[in-house]
Amino acid sequence: MNKILISEQEIQDRIRSLAAEIEQDYPKGDEIHLVAVLKGGFMFLADLVRVMSTGVTMDFMALSSYGKGTTSSGQVRVLKDLDSSLENRHVIIVEDIVDTGLTLHYLQDILRARAPKTVRTACLLSKPSRRTVAVQVDYIGFTIDDHFVVGYGLDYAEKYRNLPHIAILENGQNL
Ligand code: IMP
Repeated sequence: MNKILISEQEIQDRIRSLAAEIEQDYPKGDEIHLVAVLKGGFMFLADLVRVMSTGVTMDFMALSSYGKGTTSSGQVRVLKDLDSSLENRHVIIVEDIVDTGLTLHYLQDILRARAPKTVRTACLLSKPSRRTVAVQVDYIGFTIDDHFVVGYGLDYAEKYRNLPHIAILENGQNL
């Protein structure tokens, strides 16, 4: 059974309000550089930028975690780096979900080292009960309980990323 946790409409409504929140936080006329984390962040980025009226630019990064599912050391490998410099730019990291926080913690560190003007983070989903490191997330779409979720960019074994909603994965299949 496909158990929908967050509907397509709820996601779209929330993204509109996030975009408004983001735009209020930056001086008028300032450009925002969005850095999406692949692959999961692609859909959130695509919908977010389409409801933003500020000037935006964007870039993509791909990461892989070591020791996922075990006692992760928080070590993250950069599989694809950014194409352009972050120097003196307003950067927003766009992530699908923050779980333990290890990936984001590492990413924030390496991006802050590249001399941006500001770095903030937007995550569509947050599972605070799973957090093992304190990490700042400035814009959160939805706070959820400890479920493994798929859809809207999130996968299980590379599947379900195309769902327009967020669903709870039951028994690794049944979607
Ligand atoms: P963290 O480093 O533990 O915060 O993990 C973040 C990454 O784990 C996310 O960017 C996702 O790729 C993946 N992840 C964590 N929870 C889920 C989930 O419920 N469904 C799908 N992927 C998840």
